[in-house]
Amino acid sequence: MPHIAIISSSVRIERKSHNVALYFKNYLENNNLSTAEILDLKEYKFPIFEGTLKTLIDPAENVLEYAAKIKSADGIIIVTPEYNGGFPASLKNAVDLLYDEWQGKPISISTVSAGIFGGAQALVSLQFILWKIGAYTVTNMFPVPNVSKSFDDKGNALDKIATDKLAKVFLSELIESIEANKQG
Ligand SMILES: Cc1cc2nc3c(=O)[nH]c(=O)nc-3n(C[C@H](O)[C@H](O)[C@H](O)COP(=O)(O)O)c2cc1C
Repeated sequence: MPHIAIISSSVRIERKSHNVALYFKNYLENNNLSTAEILDLKEYKFPIFEGTLKTLIDPAENVLEYAAKIKSADGIIIVTPEYNGGFPASLKNAVDLLYDEWQGKPISISTVSAGIFGGAQALVSLQFILWKIGAYTVTNMFPVPNVSKSFDDKGNALDKIATDKLAKVFLSELIESIEANKQG
């Protein structure tokens, strides 16, 4: 069974997109699609970028842990809010920190917003930087509009049937990419 790491990108007080990360973890585990864990950037509290991991003389323990988890994950889901038409600095910080760990890594992106467009503007710039660094982003999208009306604080989708249907399609491409990646 593959292992999927879910990056929860928002470090904001009263953040809402973390509920989407919880939803994916529950969905993957409850449907026996993969083992799953959340890499929570709010908990990691990485300092602002001073150099890639390779160049850090005495990297913090949690940076090493994060790098190991990205490297060993078979696939990654990034859950990101949209701020001013882009993704948050916390996420860019966490991407730039690594390099080798991202190479060829299958990544699915879920964008989240309070408005009606589901963070669609953040998607393009995030896909570009992940492509640039050498990751493999899958094309299926999972935009979440009106996030506070769509998920509760435990990660339950308020319209479970419709959301599960979308998640099935979204995650199937990630799982297929993981299998293709393993075959080499
Ligand atoms: C600084 C800031 C900028 C925002 N800019 C946008 C935006 O460009 N488009 C949008 O749809 N929502 C925008 N929002 C609303 C967020 O999408 C909404 O607050 C969402 O809940 C953010 O995710 P989070 O709660 O996990 O941080 C913005 C929110 C903040 C705090």
